[in-house]
Amino acid sequence: MIVFKTIKTLQTYLNTKKGGGKSIGFVPTMGALHQGHISLILKSKAQTDLTICSIFVNPTQFNNPSDLEKYPRNASADMKLLAAVKCDVLFMPNVLEMYPNGQTKNTEDYGEITQLLEGEKRPGHFDGVITIVSRLFEIIEPHETFFGQKDYQQCLLVQELINRHFPKITFNIEATVRQKDGLALSSRNTRLSEAQQIEALAISKSLFYIKQNWGNDTIENLIAAAEKMIELQKSLKIEYFKICNRTHLTALNGHSKNYKEAVILTAVFCGDIRLIDNLIV
Ligand code: PAJ
Repeated sequence: MIVFKTIKTLQTYLNTKKGGGKSIGFVPTMGALHQGHISLILKSKAQTDLTICSIFVNPTQFNNPSDLEKYPRNASADMKLLAAVKCDVLFMPNVLEMYPNGQTKNTEDYGEITQLLEGEKRPGHFDGVITIVSRLFEIIEPHETFFGQKDYQQCLLVQELINRHFPKITFNIEATVRQKDGLALSSRNTRLSEAQQIEALAISKSLFYIKQNWGNDTIENLIAAAEKMIELQKSLKIEYFKICNRTHLTALNGHSKNYKEAVILTAVFCGDIRLIDNLIV
């Protein structure tokens, strides 16, 4: 695996590869890699000739300074994981490299998708995501990119970004990788204590409960039962728990049998650690 820290050296290298007709697959990450990230690398390797992973903890998408400061960073473990699956290129720039003119953010209007759920609870978060993903796409000009359904709302937004500004990039969304017990893998899980890990299982359990009972009850009752499952755990505090239209993320209501498809989305604090999860029904 070749590691680049500057845009210039990365682009010089990529130009030689693109000239040779190789297709480029790109997986953006913020590091603290786990098997969820690795599943994206493996998919990219299967579908393209050359896979690039970026690791950059993007300051402009953190609305909470303490979350940014506490975000797990472990470059040497990340490099080992990437090398083990034969990722071809790692791009690891610093903040100045990515923001040479100061930390400005996207100002283009992406509508409701950026305002609801994560957008409402983390003001400015998605403008930071759009900014950095656009910048990375401009630098790398990949043929394909790979994102995880774990960040469902982010996927909708990146799809819109690609539609508007990068129509040549093929967008791939991959399934959420979970522990055997159901907990969605997340870089933030490393900050959970053992007791919190166990309590956090209620989050995915509540999602699967709704999926199993879809069609048998009203959305309001399903949500109430699911919220109860989460709130029984003393370290968990729900920030939002919604069942929405899959494309527009507007909240659904009434009997669940009236909807053939939906997505359940939730954000839950486990102590001071914010976890998100979702499930398609
Ligand atoms: P990060 O949280 O590091 O996630 C990088 C990619 O891995 C995202 O596409 C995310 O959805 C995916 N991912 C995370 N957990 C996953 C899991 N359990 N299963 C499958 N995929 C998973 O998302 C970001 O970084 C940033 O917002 C970024 C796009 C890099 C922009 O800064």
